[in-house]
Amino acid sequence: MKNSKVFLNNKFLNLSEAKISPLDRGFIFADGVYELIPFFQDKAFLLDKHLLRLNKNLSEMKIENIYSNDEWRSYINKLISYYDYTNFYVYIQVSRGAPKHEEEVLRQHHYYNEMEPTIFMYVSEINLLPEDKIRKGFSCVTLDDLRWGMCNIKSISLAYNALAKNYAKEREAFETVFVKKGIITEGSSSNIFIVKDNVFYTPQLNNYVLPGITRGYVIEEIKNLDYQIQEIDISIDLLEKADEAFLTNSTQFLVPISSLNKKIIGSGQAGKYSCELYEKFKKISRYS
Ligand code: PDD
Repeated sequence: MKNSKVFLNNKFLNLSEAKISPLDRGFIFADGVYELIPFFQDKAFLLDKHLLRLNKNLSEMKIENIYSNDEWRSYINKLISYYDYTNFYVYIQVSRGAPKHEEEVLRQHHYYNEMEPTIFMYVSEINLLPEDKIRKGFSCVTLDDLRWGMCNIKSISLAYNALAKNYAKEREAFETVFVKKGIITEGSSSNIFIVKDNVFYTPQLNNYVLPGITRGYVIEEIKNLDYQIQEIDISIDLLEKADEAFLTNSTQFLVPISSLNKKIIGSGQAGKYSCELYEKFKKISRYS
């Protein structure tokens, strides 16, 4: 891996110099949260919304947010100044940190009184999916949603999400869509939308759905275009019968679904509404 600059606890270091304690609770308990902020054409996309979600998630996990939004912005700006990518993301991870009194009990489930969070940020290029592939759509598979019950928090506890993405990869699919008691929740690293009879639907927010920043943006765009959108429980049956379906996330924005468990969805390629929304993203990501 290239020896790129990363940010670790107020310092800008080469990746090989960045070290944390193996007792860090992020490593031992997956006790932390993360954010992924995309930059298209060198400009942050919805940065304030990502910082707001980070702040909310930290507070829900009772981890102190030691930086103001201005400090976050200035550290992020300094970090990205080391890179000359056009489309890229900044990954932020905040864990509860490592116990200070390492000579005492090394592993306790409860939090220690004085803990300093470990804050790590790195930058990676975004390789956008080619437009011809977007227009053809991508295949998806489904899997029981067996994740913990606080998926509304962007926790670093992603073992089941990773297993699910690998399940898709083994089946040469793009994404795994989670299903809980016959209702679809979200993808292993994406939110999902469908279109049926000219109305958009997306799973309503609950503890099994991450309030994706792209999801929020796409909902607003749909409303701006004067289309109808409903946030409801979507059955697997409704997804299978959809005219169109697509995934959203920060790195790819919108990915049309062509098939689910090898059954064709809609026309078997990107539908007209998916293409219309994708055109909007092209303006953001490809032209300055
Ligand atoms: N993941 N749901 C899950 C489980 C996710 O992991 C993601 C994004 C989303 C979409 O959220 P947003 O629009 O804010 O990116 C929904 C990121 C991209 C990741 O883990 O790499």
